[in-house]
Amino acid sequence: MKYTAVIFDLDGVICSTDQYHYLAWKEIADNEGIYFDEEINNRLRGVSRMESLEIILERASRTYTEEEKNAMAEKKNDSYRKLLEQMTPADLPEDAAKTLKSLKAKGIKTAIGSSSKNTPVILNQLGLNDAFDAVSDGNNITKSKPDPEVFRKAAEMLQEAPANCLVVEDARAGVAAAKAGGFDCAGIGEASEDADTAYPIRKISDLLKII
Ligand code: BG6
Ligand code: MG
Repeated sequence: MKYTAVIFDLDGVICSTDQYHYLAWKEIADNEGIYFDEEINNRLRGVSRMESLEIILERASRTYTEEEKNAMAEKKNDSYRKLLEQMTPADLPEDAAKTLKSLKAKGIKTAIGSSSKNTPVILNQLGLNDAFDAVSDGNNITKSKPDPEVFRKAAEMLQEAPANCLVVEDARAGVAAAKAGGFDCAGIGEASEDADTAYPIRKISDLLKII
């Protein structure tokens, strides 16, 4: 067996929260009269909340104080959390559920490696509280992707060397983080086109052909 563990990014890999992030940021941007669209939203994938705000503020016509930025990020998160309340276990794609089950049956360890501080909330909404052997997320890291910290911590929790873990990502920042940490990466969506993605995949269950 080439890999003994799989580390999954959460947003965009296990579930789709893109639209919720978009709506919550759009409200902030509109309030400030800052241009924001889906293309800019794509650049926020895998990037921490405060770094996402900095990307949005590139289009702003004035500078913002740290207090203002913190207030905007907090407001965005409040709206985002309200939207997350709509999520239920029915939002866990069948393909992801099936893949997690098959990996477990094969004795492969699984972990989450996500930049999101809302990871515990999302896992709870999806009914995945006990689905992973380890959860490394925005709450236990100091540097966000493309830094490899979140994946390194996940591997440590699993007691596995990076070379034994396959990372699954949808964002270019995540592919870069995997590379920097010495992990092979399977890329879905935009990440499948990244030159540093070892295994371009179309759907999560394609992993079962790699492992
Ligand atoms: C990542 C998302 O998983 O988490 C990013 O891809 C998001 O879009 C980041 O900005 C941080 O999320 P949160 O939930 O901590 O604001
Ligand atoms: Mg992602």
